[in-house]
Amino acid sequence: MKNILEAPFMVEMIRTTTNMYNHGWDERNGGNISLLLDETVVQEYLNTDAVIRTIPTGFKAPELEGKYFIVTGTGKYFKNVQYAPDVNLGVIRITDGGETAELLWGFTDGGKFTSEFPAHMMSHVARLKVDPANRVVMHCHPANLLAMTFVHSLDEREFTRTLWQMCTECIVVFPDGVNVLPWMLCGTNEIGEATAEKMKTARLVVWSLHGIYGAGKDLDETFGLIETAEKAAEIYMKIAHLPRVNTLTDEMMHQLEERFNVKGREGYLD
Ligand code: 13P
Ligand code: ZN
Repeated sequence: MKNILEAPFMVEMIRTTTNMYNHGWDERNGGNISLLLDETVVQEYLNTDAVIRTIPTGFKAPELEGKYFIVTGTGKYFKNVQYAPDVNLGVIRITDGGETAELLWGFTDGGKFTSEFPAHMMSHVARLKVDPANRVVMHCHPANLLAMTFVHSLDEREFTRTLWQMCTECIVVFPDGVNVLPWMLCGTNEIGEATAEKMKTARLVVWSLHGIYGAGKDLDETFGLIETAEKAAEIYMKIAHLPRVNTLTDEMMHQLEERFNVKGREGYLD
């Protein structure tokens, strides 16, 4: 059996949580990540018959039966993952049609997966239907995206267009745009279902007055997706109160669509 602390997925989780903390996106226990793992890869590092304990999830997700995830723990600080991955992270397998998570590694202080587990698992189900290569769901609290939800319309087309207008390459990185949920109580199945519904049409879902969700095929790509949206929001927060002299036009964005072979969300460009 190989050393799980040297597994590429573990190294990447530690690097990503540390990087997110260093970006200021994950104060205290803010934020959570789940990464879908291949069974054959998990079996290189763990005896998958050795279940440490079972944890009820409180929801159904039959599409995830038998799937393995590494996930951040509830109440755990991203800042600390690098120093104690076995306390702050867990490897689990979903069983009972989604109602149970079997703990195979980690959460050694008796902890459990993030309180946002419903939003993560339901978003995995939604994204896998759109893109079978999707592996990651990532949530965090980046300051500028959060700030924007206090001062900008929450209309999805308007919100997306503003972000696209802030950096030339935004439309290339997230052509599907950004979906937006109104404020909802976090940690519930309801916000999980609403997030998953929004994940059907975009890889980024803003939680107003709270943070953002991103989904993607690996940790690097998903980090980059949120990083790009957050950069755009940062520029918006720098210029929103100033007269705008120059702007990216829809015509310029149509040129970008052609140059980079992407298509902006239907109806979002004039
Ligand atoms: P957890 O500590 O349960 O992951 O919660 C953090 C968070 O960001 C809730 O939205
Ligand atoms: Zn949060």
